[in-house]
Amino acid sequence: MAMQAIQMIITGHTKVVGVIGHPVEHSLSPGMHNAEFERLGLDWVYVPFAVHPDRVETALRGIAALGVAGINVTVPHKQAVIRFLDELSPEARRIGAVNTIRFGDDGRSVGFNTDAPGWADDIQQDILLEGSAVCILGAGGASRGLCVAAAMAGSRSISVCNRTFETAVALCESLQPEFPEVLFRPCRMEGDEVREQFRACEIIVNATSVGMASNPGIPVPADWLHQDQYVYDTIYTPAETELLKTARQRGCAARNGLGMLARQGALSFEIWTGHRPDVERMEAAIRRQLAERNGKE
Ligand code: ATR
Repeated sequence: MAMQAIQMIITGHTKVVGVIGHPVEHSLSPGMHNAEFERLGLDWVYVPFAVHPDRVETALRGIAALGVAGINVTVPHKQAVIRFLDELSPEARRIGAVNTIRFGDDGRSVGFNTDAPGWADDIQQDILLEGSAVCILGAGGASRGLCVAAAMAGSRSISVCNRTFETAVALCESLQPEFPEVLFRPCRMEGDEVREQFRACEIIVNATSVGMASNPGIPVPADWLHQDQYVYDTIYTPAETELLKTARQRGCAARNGLGMLARQGALSFEIWTGHRPDVERMEAAIRRQLAERNGKE
């Protein structure tokens, strides 16, 4: 990442933001944010902090005491940070996960979730969530965020398909009272009835880890997809998962999760700095880093 490092000048006034995670070495966020600080001429710097799960509280106290302006929170701390925060945004409260914290001058902390609105912003470049029937694949933390984002954007029904059916049931049951106007439907990953329910959904979103290099495969049977469906995969490495490849072969419009990463970053950037960054430029910074990484492999 010499590309970013050589340009930065740290002064006595430099404001600090960063990311806590475990591990955090592979994060693309420092490169993305620092490139944008530089482009906008802001005297800010974004640094990675590897924080062990046993030290989350101590880390947050230290970060607040040092006057760090804000942080991103990544795996595995997105839920763990919540009990140490002074305030939560409505989205973060509903999702039960925080990926962005802002610290006031007095050290007061507010937790936000920009993953979910970042995804909603990205997908809605192509298709409106309002009034749509959405199928979310997976029922973990990522799925919960997308369910809340889709519900808040006005989806009319949300089917949650998961390998472990009970987890999908639990997710739907916990969200249904929050959004009485949305129909939440848990479903299995097999069977004719589910197939029909799946085929009636206009938007299919993969929120499982299936399709990553470490977890190859496709999260739904390929012949369930048809050309009237729109397919979004939250995975961005590889850029084209088996799901996206199959979807495109079957005539579906499709998009990967790279824009979601850029947009959650852009929303966090604005929360901390008050400046609206250029999302396209942030996305380009991610692409550059990924290309550089691929070149090194
Ligand atoms: P996250 O917080 O990123 O959502 P998670 O809570 O571990 O991560 O959830 C991972 C999701 O991917 C789950 O829905 C998981 O399904 P199970 O609940 O059945 O475990 C899903 N998943 C992971 N590997 C899978 C596989 N090989 N086939 C189908 N689903 C898989």
